[in-house]
Amino acid sequence: MRKRLIAGNWKMNMLRGEAAELARGVVESTRRLAGKVDIILAPPFTALDAVGKELQGTGIMLGAQNVFWEERGAFTGEISPGMLADSGCSWVIVGHSERRRILGETDEMVRMKLAASLKAGLKVIVCVGETLEERDRGHTVKVVEGQVVKALTGTGISDPGGLVIAYEPVWAIGTGRHATPAEAEFVQSAIREIAGNILGDSAARIRIVYGGSVNEENIRDLLAEPDIDGALVGGASLRAESMASIVETAGEQ
Ligand code: 13P
Repeated sequence: MRKRLIAGNWKMNMLRGEAAELARGVVESTRRLAGKVDIILAPPFTALDAVGKELQGTGIMLGAQNVFWEERGAFTGEISPGMLADSGCSWVIVGHSERRRILGETDEMVRMKLAASLKAGLKVIVCVGETLEERDRGHTVKVVEGQVVKALTGTGISDPGGLVIAYEPVWAIGTGRHATPAEAEFVQSAIREIAGNILGDSAARIRIVYGGSVNEENIRDLLAEPDIDGALVGGASLRAESMASIVETAGEQ
C-alpha cells in the first residue's frame, strides 16, 4: 500500500509573513493527519526559511519549486540541491509545466535536475502532462511517455519512496477544469507501466499523483482510482481550510 501524498505548490505567491501564517494554519488544521498522509508545502524560495520554522517537529515536509543541476559555481540566480537541503527542504518539484512553457525548460534539463537532486538526497516530484492541443490530437500518452522516459532514464533511483511523478495536464492547471478520475487513471496507469519498463519492480512502489484544479470537492473521486496516490495542489493549497480538507480526505482509507 502506497502512502498517500498531498503537496501544496504555492507557486509565486506569499510574502514571508503571509507564508508563515498559512503554514501555521495548515499545521493546526492537519495535526491529526501528519503521520497518516505525507504532506509537503512548497513555498517560493524566499519563504522557505519562514515556512521551515513553522513546520519544525510537525511531520509536514518542506519542498522547493525548482532547483539547478550543478552544486556550486558561476550560475547567477540559480539554487543548488545542496542549498535546498541546507534550507531545510527534503523535497523539490522539477519539470513543472509552467517552467517548461514559460522558462523553456527541456526534458534534458528536467533529467539533470532530477539526477542532481536525488544524488544530493532530496526527494523529487517530477511533473509531466500534455497540452490541450496534444490532448485533442490524441497524443496524451505519447507525450507523457516521452517526458517520463527522458526524465527517468539513467537516473538510478534507489529509493522508490523518494520519487513521485505528478501527472498534471496543462489544460487543467489553474483553469477550474480537472481531468475526470477515469481520464487521470487511464494516463496514470500508463505512467506506472512506462516507469516499470525503466525501473522494474520498484515502479509499483512509486507514487503517482494528479495535479490540475484539485479541490476539496473533486479529491475524493480522484483518490478512489487505484493509480492516483495523492495530489499536487496549486490554488486550493493557498487556503489552509481547503488544504486541510484535501489532506483529511486523503487520510480516509
Ligand atoms: P491548480 O491546482 O491551481 O490548478 O495548479 C495545479 C498545479 O500546477 C500544481 O503544481
